[in-house]
Amino acid sequence: MSLFDRWRVTLDRLRAEGRFRTLTPPIGLDFSSNDYLGYGKLTFHDATDLSRSGSASRLLRGEHPIWSEVEARLADWHGAEAALVLPSGYAANEGLLATLLEPGDVVFSDKLNHASIIDGIRLSRADKEIFLHNNLADLEARLTHRGAERKAGEAWFIVTESLFGMEGDFAPLAELADLAERHDAHLIVDEAHATGCFGEHGGGLVDAAGLRGRILACVHTGGKALAVPGAYIVGSMLLKELLVNRCRHLIFTTALPPMVGNWWLEMLDRVPSDTATRDRLHANVRAFRETAESVKLRIGGNVYIATVPIGNDADAMRAATRLQALGYDIRAIRPPTVPIGTARLRISIHADHDAETLRELAKNMLPTAITSEPRTK
Ligand SMILES: Cc1ncc(COP(=O)(O)O)c(C=O)c1O
Repeated sequence: MSLFDRWRVTLDRLRAEGRFRTLTPPIGLDFSSNDYLGYGKLTFHDATDLSRSGSASRLLRGEHPIWSEVEARLADWHGAEAALVLPSGYAANEGLLATLLEPGDVVFSDKLNHASIIDGIRLSRADKEIFLHNNLADLEARLTHRGAERKAGEAWFIVTESLFGMEGDFAPLAELADLAERHDAHLIVDEAHATGCFGEHGGGLVDAAGLRGRILACVHTGGKALAVPGAYIVGSMLLKELLVNRCRHLIFTTALPPMVGNWWLEMLDRVPSDTATRDRLHANVRAFRETAESVKLRIGGNVYIATVPIGNDADAMRAATRLQALGYDIRAIRPPTVPIGTARLRISIHADHDAETLRELAKNMLPTAITSEPRTK
């Protein structure tokens, strides 16, 4: 079989499974992006005084003083020693894990962690234990079991998202921190979907729970609620030094353009004090969820990530198409983004939605849920 035939076979199989993807522009009212705070619609100030491109890695003349200012302010926002900006959350997770975890170490990773966490673990060649999603008993059993044969010098890590992007549920962060401490493991948290939206100053779920000091490293992304390109890792100064020296996703990639640093500074001027937008977001969540409950719409997830479980991929596509025809940009989430047999609709609620539209949407979702009883292929 030629290489191109091999590609065609792959794509035909995806079509037959109802999993073929195309790049589709916005369809209607935005209920699918992660622009939770609605900041994506704001314009940034002109930044023409800064060069357009990083033009080199941060270690090779791509470094601009704006990044040390951004990183100092990020660290300060989270009350941490240090922050390090990377080009994307994918790079941050992959680079962080591939740097910190070494062959011979053991990482305990939630079954539904994001692809970038999975790939970072793969790259590290550490031994992995996948625990059932948010299941503390399963994690503890694995920690205890592995403990019997733990060797000296073997570092252990527990990795989780704080708000799971495709489930919309919370990780039990305080309990995970307890378990990590009891079993001499280090906790790493991906705050991609929580950054900007929780805590008095919007730092995320780790800050809201007062857990910053008990966590080895957090990954925060700019591309979701903060509406700025890039991501950052928060931790100790020692961690930052290690990453600057060893993280291949920082060393061997072009720096973000310095003008993007201006956007970060603008974001940092706004987000920590913008409680009004956070309050609006959570009020919208209540409007949607209360209506959903009143019309008996079965939805999963918490807060602003709501899911309608469907099961079958083709049914999920049909349901999404129906809602799109009504003017809602709602997409079907299918494998491999979610496990096989758990295709769903994902509704992302934003601060700049209006409550009436959300109530209306909840009612319009109803036929979707009724006609699509969960079932597997
Ligand atoms: C949980 C989680 N972590 C990391 C990422 C990657 O972030 P980015 O889009 O900045 O690469 C995503 C984005 O989809 C995500 O959902």
